[in-house]
Amino acid sequence: MNDVEAALDAAGLTNPEVRAFVKEYAELTGAARVEVVNASDDARLLEEAVEAGELERAGEGRYYSRSYHKDTARSEERTIVATNNESDRGVYNNWRPASEMKPMLHDRMRGASEGKTMYVVPYLMAPAGNTLAPWATGVELTDARTVVLHMIRMARVGVQFVNELDDPASFVRAVHVTGDLEHLGQGTDADQRYFVTVADERTILHFGSSYGGNALLGKIAHGLRQGAYDGWASKKFLAEQYMLIGIHDKETGKDYHICGGFPSASGKTNLAMMAAPDALGDRYHVSFYGDDIAWLWVDEESGRLYGMNPEYGVFGVAKDTNENTNPNALASVAEGTDCIFTNIAFNPSTGEVWWEGRTKEPPADRHGWLDWTGAPIADRKDNDTAPWAHPNSRFTTTLDNVPNIADDYDAPAGVPIDAIIFGGRTRDREPLIRAITDLAEGVYDGLTLGAEATSAAEGKEGVLRYDPMSNRPFMAYGEGDYAQHYLDVVGAASEQPIFAHVNWFQRDAEDGHFLWPGYRDNLRPLLWLLQLKNGEVKGRSTAVGIIPTEEELNLEGMDIPAADLERILSIDKPRWQQEMGFREEHLGQFERMPEAIWEAHRRVASALDDEA
Ligand code: GDP
Ligand code: PGA
Ligand code: MN
Ligand code: MN
Repeated sequence: MNDVEAALDAAGLTNPEVRAFVKEYAELTGAARVEVVNASDDARLLEEAVEAGELERAGEGRYYSRSYHKDTARSEERTIVATNNESDRGVYNNWRPASEMKPMLHDRMRGASEGKTMYVVPYLMAPAGNTLAPWATGVELTDARTVVLHMIRMARVGVQFVNELDDPASFVRAVHVTGDLEHLGQGTDADQRYFVTVADERTILHFGSSYGGNALLGKIAHGLRQGAYDGWASKKFLAEQYMLIGIHDKETGKDYHICGGFPSASGKTNLAMMAAPDALGDRYHVSFYGDDIAWLWVDEESGRLYGMNPEYGVFGVAKDTNENTNPNALASVAEGTDCIFTNIAFNPSTGEVWWEGRTKEPPADRHGWLDWTGAPIADRKDNDTAPWAHPNSRFTTTLDNVPNIADDYDAPAGVPIDAIIFGGRTRDREPLIRAITDLAEGVYDGLTLGAEATSAAEGKEGVLRYDPMSNRPFMAYGEGDYAQHYLDVVGAASEQPIFAHVNWFQRDAEDGHFLWPGYRDNLRPLLWLLQLKNGEVKGRSTAVGIIPTEEELNLEGMDIPAADLERILSIDKPRWQQEMGFREEHLGQFERMPEAIWEAHRRVASALDDEA
């Protein structure tokens, strides 16, 4: 062990509380040395990672990594929120007592970084100077260099963020220990992994993975779980799995901001990177603020609901990203961006990369190509249909590389929120868009978001499940308390955002094709929503919200079969009536669900019965 004090001195890390934290875990994990990281260390760390074989070059200024084959997605089952108060137990947060989990994690971490470097990564999950910055500071300790390189892309990283704290103890203590990935029994009864947020102690202890969603503690554990808990405990803010976009109308000069929650791998990043459809591009521009997390609060001066993206980069799904679906995403991972790909197909001899949906057919010349596990494609049998890239393969790139990044993405103020939308992969029932103008009905709608699980989490792809506000994997405290807090925060705003539920994924019952082309065309229903809020269109009222008439939806320059359009703009009443029974059961699981939410449920149910 090098002298920890000396390493911290040399790095100018002066915060005494951080120093004590580093010393405690350096001792516990048995790391051979400590190294403090600033964003400016990126180029050197990239070189070191290439030399060590942790990354490979994929052309000029692009990198490739492969994760352990049993470590490719977030594990929801192994993720736990622990506190000292059992009333924090919810249905989804896998609550356990802090007194049980901390010693258990410490036991697993003891000596587990032997021989390795423990990197000290001080970070800020907010634009500097933002009103929520006091809750956004943290230090991640990690024994994996690739995790450091991802953190530098996904968060603002540097010692200044902890040296400048008013209260030196007010940072999140985040510890990541990789463990011996080949002997952790992933997915078996003997699974050794634990991903624990000790929320009331602002301490995050993750053991047994180096995959982004489990190992980038600033992003998910702090940005979502810890942020949610802190936002509730302080009564000040919401931390949500939301994308956040700006829509600029060049004709009127107006700017709008929409945020919204879709479960992982259900379209947030694509929506945030959206290039307007060609026919609408002269008038509208979509700008990227965030694609996975938004923190929301009421701005003291204006009284309006504001939002900001705590992250500094994009951790995006590769599958189906191509020139048509998402040209901005491709530009953000072009050569020279220093992006990092994980678990896609790779040709080390040419530096080329490929994933399903990148082009219609995989590269014709299979020579030199390796699938995501590292196995040569050329050795495959002809009838082998296994994907070349893992379905949850990803790219990591900083916001600066995103072509449609908002000019003011880094401004401390954040942006006023005009609309909050919820959505997910739902193959039937959910129309293209239904707008909701009442706060309690909007929150009720978010709480009853039902969608298909995706490959972003281990296990259950395709299974329909409720995913409240798309936060099911990140829920930090009881769902009833969460609903009340949501009502309180948004309800305090002087101007109420409009809510909507969207669905880009409705399918034809017979051949399974998507009824809506999606991607860039998703701007069209969002423009309708803003027009509705402005009183420029009226829509058609239904029991479950206001839906656009065919005439109101701007379909200029787009081809959609009339039958498909009709389907996605109609309400399947029998299915909805059946759904109301499921919702009753779903909501009934939660303690302290506010009466306002039950009233909203009963209003929708009786409106459906009246219509039928
Ligand atoms: P996120 O994980 O919520 O950020 O979702 P992404 O934007 O990364 O998208 C996840 C997957 O859904 C990718 O494979 C996308 O290509 C696909 N996807 C995104 N938007 C649409 C859409 O509007 N229609 C269809 N059919 N697929 C989409
Ligand atoms: P996603 O982000 O929502 O873009 O998939 C990563 C995650 O939630 O694991
Ligand atoms: Mn996410
Ligand atoms: Mn995403």
